[in-house]
Amino acid sequence: MNTLSLLRDRFGPVLSSLADEVSPLLEMIRPSQDVKFGDYQVNCAMPLGKQLGLPPREVAERLIAAVDLADVCEKPQIAGPGFINLRLKDDWLSSRLAPGLSDARLGIETSPTRKVVVIDYSSPNVAKPMHVGHIRSTVIGDCLARVLRFLGHQVIGDNHLGDWGTQFGMIIYGYKHFVDADAYQQNPVMELSRLYQRVNRLCEFHAGNARFPEQNRKLDRLQQQVDDQSQICLEADAKQKKKVEKSLRKLQSQLTQVKKDRDALRSQLAQVSTDPKLSKLAEEHPKIGEAVLEETVRLHAGDEHSLALWNEFLPKCRQEIQRIYERLDIHFDVEYGESFYHQQLANVVKQFLTSGLARESEGAICVFLEDWDAPMIIRKKDGAFLYATTDLATIRYRMETWNPDAMLYVVDHRQSEHFGKLFTAARKWIHEDVQFCHVGFGTVLGRDGRPYRTRSGDTVGLENLLDEAVAKAHTVVADNDQRKPEPEMDEEERMQVARVVGHGAIKYADLSHNRTSDYEFDTDKMLALEGNTATYLQYSYARVQSIFRRAGMDARREAQTSRVFELSHPAERALALQLLRFGETLEEVLVDYRPNQLTDYLFKLAQLFSVFFEHCPVLKAERDALRESRLALSDLTSRTMKQGLSLLGIGVVERM
Ligand code: ARG
Repeated sequence: MNTLSLLRDRFGPVLSSLADEVSPLLEMIRPSQDVKFGDYQVNCAMPLGKQLGLPPREVAERLIAAVDLADVCEKPQIAGPGFINLRLKDDWLSSRLAPGLSDARLGIETSPTRKVVVIDYSSPNVAKPMHVGHIRSTVIGDCLARVLRFLGHQVIGDNHLGDWGTQFGMIIYGYKHFVDADAYQQNPVMELSRLYQRVNRLCEFHAGNARFPEQNRKLDRLQQQVDDQSQICLEADAKQKKKVEKSLRKLQSQLTQVKKDRDALRSQLAQVSTDPKLSKLAEEHPKIGEAVLEETVRLHAGDEHSLALWNEFLPKCRQEIQRIYERLDIHFDVEYGESFYHQQLANVVKQFLTSGLARESEGAICVFLEDWDAPMIIRKKDGAFLYATTDLATIRYRMETWNPDAMLYVVDHRQSEHFGKLFTAARKWIHEDVQFCHVGFGTVLGRDGRPYRTRSGDTVGLENLLDEAVAKAHTVVADNDQRKPEPEMDEEERMQVARVVGHGAIKYADLSHNRTSDYEFDTDKMLALEGNTATYLQYSYARVQSIFRRAGMDARREAQTSRVFELSHPAERALALQLLRFGETLEEVLVDYRPNQLTDYLFKLAQLFSVFFEHCPVLKAERDALRESRLALSDLTSRTMKQGLSLLGIGVVERM
């Protein structure tokens, strides 16, 4: 059991004798942020004092008196209004750390309750090339799968590919009308993606054109309202002034927004209308929007020719995506994709209707849910099924196949409404005890603070970004090697290291940001040798490895059999404590599915090692026992780093 759980276990019975709801109180037992406050802090005396009507310090006294911690901690200290600061005994720390030395799992036990968890992640729409936005779901999902597995849970990683949606209507239409046969021969996926983009653009052009007059009328109406309101302002007496000015300001800001939207639309339309070739195409395909929908309907209805095209395109699209997964060392257990569920959708709708969970409204089949104004539509007026229908079928399939304890959806937070509705509807439908969780995340931004795009306005292909990161990593690695008195690597090794460093940098930059925030994609920053980057961690790892290269393998084996740590220097003790926290950090990652808990941990570990290394000579330690203890700390550090990075899906190198 990890230290945090152990402390919570000890406090549990005492707290439950004082309060009804114990778990929020137990959560207030936490690692301290600062050594000043000990190693762990118990902060629940304050809320408990309020509940019991007692001074918190008195509650703290009672807690300390009742909990037996003598084997684990020094005498607990009460600070401020009633904080309890706990400092682990050095002996205890040392004895808890030692088993990790001879254990490949670093002494970390698997979870006592083994859960079955489905993780739905990556899940790109396959007809389009993968772009920078796909990195988030892919690496966050992969990291959660790795951590869950390491802790002994059964994970089913499912790549819920978008392989059946309207985008296929687009490429089928594009293929029929615009294909460049030679280009398709040479690089089918590139050509399909060009077709997709062209058709999408033409569809957007016509849809935009149709919207434009209304947009203009809206603008005129608002302008008129602003003019009227300005007049009212001029005439208003002192008493009313504030109020009418406020509504004028509101109208003005609405006007600005509508103007912005109108201008954006105008320039989007101009991109087509000022391009002779595109505008000619737009003229020749005035009904492209409807035609694309018809293509999709034909495909879904099982039309032979459409299916033949789909069967021709799909493997090529999947191959393309697969290449990226291989580069990034991403593996799924299943990849059913939306098409897999197609046959089941009619039945889902039927069940929703017969059980009274859905009803017809304006021709569509809708599920009305208390917490949302708009219903969840599961069949459109024209008979087409939707994203939500497929997701419902998927849930049922997963329940029947794996009966999981939890289903995690690692998907952009912009889909939170969809998942909110989906989970609510699914619960009413399947009546199973399963935890649904939308593990949402923010947007990847460019340096301008807007969603990452190239200058031409396209989102950037993921593969180009990986190439760029590897190329930059190569420069970093080669520079670093050249600065050594004797460069150590040949070109092949530099290239191999650059791949590990480049891919690691991209993954780490993503994982180290709180998943719910947006973050800026900057390959220079993510490859910095200093700071919270994979590069810094990989470099630190290589540095620890170099100690063992100098000391010899025997020293490592010897260190791994040592049983006691000497922790007299604060830097030694701080490092030891951090090492001991690895297990509880992994549990922490799973509380709210936040990989940045692990990156923060590893970064701090590397920093503490660096302080230790500066103050505590290892190979030149003054006594043998001390040398052995320090070698043992170094061994644990390097193996914890390697294991931790591997749980992030990131590799290490022996030197860089
Ligand atoms: N293909 C979808 C998209 O690109 C994401 C799918 C997420 N998973 C799911 N079961 N809905 O937006």
